[in-house]
Amino acid sequence: MSADKLPKAVKYENGELIFLDQTKLPLELVYEKQETLEQVYISIKQLKVRGAPAIGIAGAFGLLISMKNYLEKSVDEFFKTLKSNGEYLISSRPTAVNLSWAIKRVIKKAENSLNHTVEDIFKIIEQEAIDIYNEDKNICHNIGNYGEKLIFDGMGILTHCNAGALAVSELGTALAPIYKALDNGKKFRVYADETRPLLQGARLTSYELYSAGVDVTLICDNMAAYAMSKGLINMVIVGCDRVAANGDTANKIGTMNVAILAKHFNIPFYVACPSSTFDNMTLTGKDIVIEERDKKEVTHFSSCQTAPDDVKVLNPAFDVTPNELITGFITEYGIIKPPFVINLEKTLHKR
Ligand code: MRU
Repeated sequence: MSADKLPKAVKYENGELIFLDQTKLPLELVYEKQETLEQVYISIKQLKVRGAPAIGIAGAFGLLISMKNYLEKSVDEFFKTLKSNGEYLISSRPTAVNLSWAIKRVIKKAENSLNHTVEDIFKIIEQEAIDIYNEDKNICHNIGNYGEKLIFDGMGILTHCNAGALAVSELGTALAPIYKALDNGKKFRVYADETRPLLQGARLTSYELYSAGVDVTLICDNMAAYAMSKGLINMVIVGCDRVAANGDTANKIGTMNVAILAKHFNIPFYVACPSSTFDNMTLTGKDIVIEERDKKEVTHFSSCQTAPDDVKVLNPAFDVTPNELITGFITEYGIIKPPFVINLEKTLHKR
C-alpha cells in the first residue's frame, strides 16, 4: 500500500490551494479550491479540513494565499496584514496547537526576511509552508515506523476519531503504525469508534482504512467497553490536538472515556503525535482551551433532528486525558514513556 493511494486532505499545486471537503465523506469526494482568507477560515471552522496537523498545514498555506492581493503593498503593510490574517485564522479553532504553531512559524519567517522585497518575502513564506508540509510527511512516516513495532499478529487495536491520512499531510499519526504494519504483512484487526457527534470515526477512519485494505470494524462509541471486556482489544492508539507539559492530552471528545476503560481492562493506551503538538507553555490539561461547538451537532444526526428544539446541550469538541492514563507518546523521535514532565521536555530540545 503506497501512501500516494491514501486520500489527501490538503494539496498545494502550481500556487493553488485545494482542500478535500471532509464533511461530504464518505459519500462524495469533492475537492474545493481555496481563494480567500474568509474561505479558508470557514473551511477550518466547518471541519472541511480537520485534524491537528492538517489544520496547521491548511493554516500555513491559507495565510500564504491570503497575501496574494498584497504583493503591490509596502513591506510594512504586507507584514502587518500577514500578522492580522494569521491571528484571524488562528481564531478559527482554539484547541489544536498545530494551527497556531504553523501560522506563527510562517509569520516568524517573514519577520526575519523584512530586508527583502514583498515579492521575495512571499516566495520565502511559500517555501516555509511547503517545508511544513514536507516535514509533516517525514514525521508521519517516522511515527509509523516506531509505532509499527508495537503491532503483532492477531492483535485488536482500537482508535477514536480520525488521526489518519485525512488529518495530516499523508499517512496519519495514530493510523500511520497501522499502515506500516499492513505493508509489513502483519495480520491484525482495527476497531474504529464512530465518534459522535460528527462521526469522524465512521465517516473518515473506517472509510480510509477499509479503502486501504485494513481489516476494520466500526463500533458505536458506547461499545468500546464491551469490545474490551470480550478481549477484542489489545492496544489503543489515538491522535491528539495538544499535549500539556505534564503529558495531559487533549483529543476528540470521548478519548478520555476510552483511556479510562483501557486502564480498567489493563490495555496499553498510546497517543501518536508530532512533537509540534507538545505545548510546554501549557502546564497542565486544565489550561487547555476546549472548543465548544454548535448545539445542532448534538440535537441532529446529520440533517435529521433527534432531540427537542430547545433542549439544553453541552458540545465540547475535545476532552483532556490525564497523563497517568497514557502508556506513551509515539513521536517522530521514538516512543516517549513516563515521567512525561522530564521526557517531553527532553524531546522538545531535539526539535
Ligand atoms: O475536530 P477534529 O476532527 O479536527 O478532531 C480531530 C482529532 O481529535 C484528532 O484525533 C487529532 O486532531 C489528531 S489528528 C492527527
